[in-house]
Amino acid sequence: MFEELALLGGEPVTRKEFPPYNTIDEREKAEVLEVLDSGVLSAFLAAPGPAFRGGPKVRKLEQAWAEHFGVKHAVSMNSATSALCAAVAACGIGPGDEVITSPLTMTATATAVLANGAVPVFADVDPRTLNLDPASVGRCITERTKAIYVVHLAGHPADMDPVMELASTHDLFVLEDNAQAPGAQYKGRYTGCIGHIGVFSLNCHKTIQAGEGGVAVTNDDRLADRLCLVRNHGETRLESLGLSADEYLIGFNFRMTEMEAAVAYHQLGKLEQLNAWRIRLADYLTRRITEEFDCLSPPHVAPDCTHVYYLYHMRYDEAKAGIPLDLFAEAVRAEGIPLSARWMPPLYRMSIYRQRSAFGDSGWPFRPPWYHGEVSYTEGICPHAEAAEHSSAYLETLVRRPNTEEDMELAVRAMRKVLDGRAALSESHAVQAGCVKT
Ligand SMILES: Cc1ncc(COP(=O)(O)O)c(C=O)c1O
Repeated sequence: MFEELALLGGEPVTRKEFPPYNTIDEREKAEVLEVLDSGVLSAFLAAPGPAFRGGPKVRKLEQAWAEHFGVKHAVSMNSATSALCAAVAACGIGPGDEVITSPLTMTATATAVLANGAVPVFADVDPRTLNLDPASVGRCITERTKAIYVVHLAGHPADMDPVMELASTHDLFVLEDNAQAPGAQYKGRYTGCIGHIGVFSLNCHKTIQAGEGGVAVTNDDRLADRLCLVRNHGETRLESLGLSADEYLIGFNFRMTEMEAAVAYHQLGKLEQLNAWRIRLADYLTRRITEEFDCLSPPHVAPDCTHVYYLYHMRYDEAKAGIPLDLFAEAVRAEGIPLSARWMPPLYRMSIYRQRSAFGDSGWPFRPPWYHGEVSYTEGICPHAEAAEHSSAYLETLVRRPNTEEDMELAVRAMRKVLDGRAALSESHAVQAGCVKT
């Protein structure tokens, strides 16, 4: 006798309200109050002198960030999106240039390329990690390629060694979008700190946060200076900063406030602990999923890599499960567990790529006068990325503090219950869809 599924009117596995993720404590509060008491909420000046690089809290954060990750320079910004744009600009990449990136990422990785007038070229992913497949990257390189924008998706490192090798053979920059993987390691090195510039996010959804914010890191002095120029209206003061006109860059206001920096400083101090919490729960869930289900594969962790589980991403085998992915996820959610289905579709399905609307308003087929390449955004260019849309199930808000192993067990019970009740679920679904006469 199977328990009736919550989606069919039964009692859910849990009615628990999972608590919000709140990692702010007295330390952040005290330091923000200190900033407010000082009245100096930002101390940036787009003029020569120390204030070109921000106020005391911004500089304290940057120093701590660089020390923590073992890099020479950390440049804070008002978001990772800003830092991603600034990284492309700092490398001197612009109109006519191509940047190879992943189609399975948050939109900002690729729009950072578009915002600089350059052209994103999408390479396929490794189906195990959904990170860029270096072999596919290699096939996308042309004479116009200037950089590879690697993404460390969901908290797992991309395969950096072959990417760095391609970059050195073809003289390319390697930029890392590390928004989702702060503290992850690839062969003993922090992700975000392996290529020329790496970008971290401090938005409110991330493992550590300042509400909004981003940090770009680099070991290259010149790139660090150029990041600072893009961040702070650099074009206004080029000569007075001791830089030649060759360094000309359009600058923006990408500056972080003193309050955000004060929060981010203390959040950074908690990063390893917060990651350890996620890893502990994820390891538990991985063991239980492996024991219980043959239709679900836990996240792949490559040898010599640490996964920091921004998301707990599983592969779902619809044929083995016997229930469509969307219905499975809906039924698990009805049991009280926040399971999401389907990874986002590949970015190139968006109209800014499909119709080339980001390149001008001339419609399809359109090629801006400064671009002489043949980039394709048609269906089928990245088969693994396209397939992932239909096989991915992920837990976004469960595998983190303050949840516990008991909560992971609730997730296992919910998935078990839905799979045990699959016959009733399929029948009811078929009736609802009008496939079965009642
Ligand atoms: C992979 C990735 N890149 C970039 C971003 C943009 O970060 P921000 O919101 O700090 O601009 C995000 C945010 O969700 C992300 O997940």
